[in-house]
Amino acid sequence: MIEDSIQELESRSLARIQSAASPGELEAVRVEALGRKGTLALIGKEMGKLAPEDRARVGKLLNGAKQKLEAAFEARQRQDAGAALRARLDAEWLDLTLPAPGPRRGYLHPITQIQRELEELFVSLGFTVLDGPEVEDEYHNFDALNIPATHPARDMQDTFWLDGGKLLRTHTSPVQVRGMERLGPPLRMIAPGRVFRNESVDASHEHTFYQLEGMMVDRDVSVAHLLFFMKTLLTAIFHREVTVRLRPGYFPFVEPGFELDIQCLICGGPGCPVCKQSGWVELLPCGLVNPNVLRMSGIDPEQWGGFAFGLGLTRLAMMRYQIDDIRHLQGGDLRFLEQF
Ligand code: PHE
Repeated sequence: MIEDSIQELESRSLARIQSAASPGELEAVRVEALGRKGTLALIGKEMGKLAPEDRARVGKLLNGAKQKLEAAFEARQRQDAGAALRARLDAEWLDLTLPAPGPRRGYLHPITQIQRELEELFVSLGFTVLDGPEVEDEYHNFDALNIPATHPARDMQDTFWLDGGKLLRTHTSPVQVRGMERLGPPLRMIAPGRVFRNESVDASHEHTFYQLEGMMVDRDVSVAHLLFFMKTLLTAIFHREVTVRLRPGYFPFVEPGFELDIQCLICGGPGCPVCKQSGWVELLPCGLVNPNVLRMSGIDPEQWGGFAFGLGLTRLAMMRYQIDDIRHLQGGDLRFLEQF
C-alpha cells in the first residue's frame, strides 16, 4: 500500500511539474512533494512502522521517487529559464545598423539674431564692434559720462552695487568711454551687450537686458548725421517704414539729447502692456556727445564732435517678434526659443 502511494505521488507530481503554469505553481508542487514537511517526508516517517524486511525495498522506491521528482523539477526550471531568455531576446533587441538619431538642432536667441544683424549693418557703415566689462567701475559707468556722484541722473538707473565700489554696468555707454580712451578720434563704434538694473520685474521690465549703443566721433558731426544713421538703422531693423517721433530727452552725456519713439508695433497705437497703454515705445535715446564727455576721455571738443545713441535690444526683439512679455526672453523655455 505504501508502495502504491509512493508511485501515485510520483506520477501525480511528475504530471503537475509538467503542467505547472507559473514559477509559483511549480514551487508549490515542489514544496508539497519534496519539502521538509512534504508528502515524501511524511511517507519517510511511516517507514519506521514497516516490517524490517520491507524497509529496504520501500526505502529504495522512496529515494528513487525523490530523485526522479528532483530531476524533473530541475529540468522544468531549466526549460522555463530557457524559454524566458528566448522571449526576452525576441522582445529586446538592438538594431546596430540603425542610424543614430540626429543631433538636436539649436536656435539662435532672438536677441542674438538682432544683435548680429545690427553688427553687420554697422560694420558695413564703417563702425567697429567693441566689447567691455559687465562689472564696471563707477568712473566709466557714471563719472566719465558726466554723471558725478551728486548728480540726480544716477537715480535714473537703479544700480546693483558690488563689494569694493564696483557695479554691474547699467548701460553699455561705459564701453564708449573705453572706446574713446583707447582708440581716440575719429571713431565709429558700437557696443552691444548685457546690462543690469535693480528693477522689479514685470511684463516690460527686467533686471537684466541687452542694449546696443553706438557712437561716432568726427569733425563737424551734426544732428543731421545722427538722424541719417538712426533712420538707416530703423529701416534695417524693421524692414519697413515705422512711425517715429522725436522728443527732447535729457541724458547728461549728450547735448542736445533726444528720445526717439516708435509707434508700438504690437498694438499699432491704441495701447497695450508693452507700450504701457501709450501707443508709443521709447526705443532710441540719442544726442550729440556732451563736450565734457569728450574732454574727459582726452578728445578736444573744439576739434571733434560726435553723436551717440542707445538701443534697447531686448525691447527691439519684443517689437520685432511681437513678444508681449519681456520675461519670456530670459525664461530659457525651449518651446519659446524654438519659434525663432
Ligand atoms: N546710456 C543711456 C541709457 O542706457 C542711453 C543713451 C545712449 C542715451 C546714448 C543717449 C545717448 O539709458
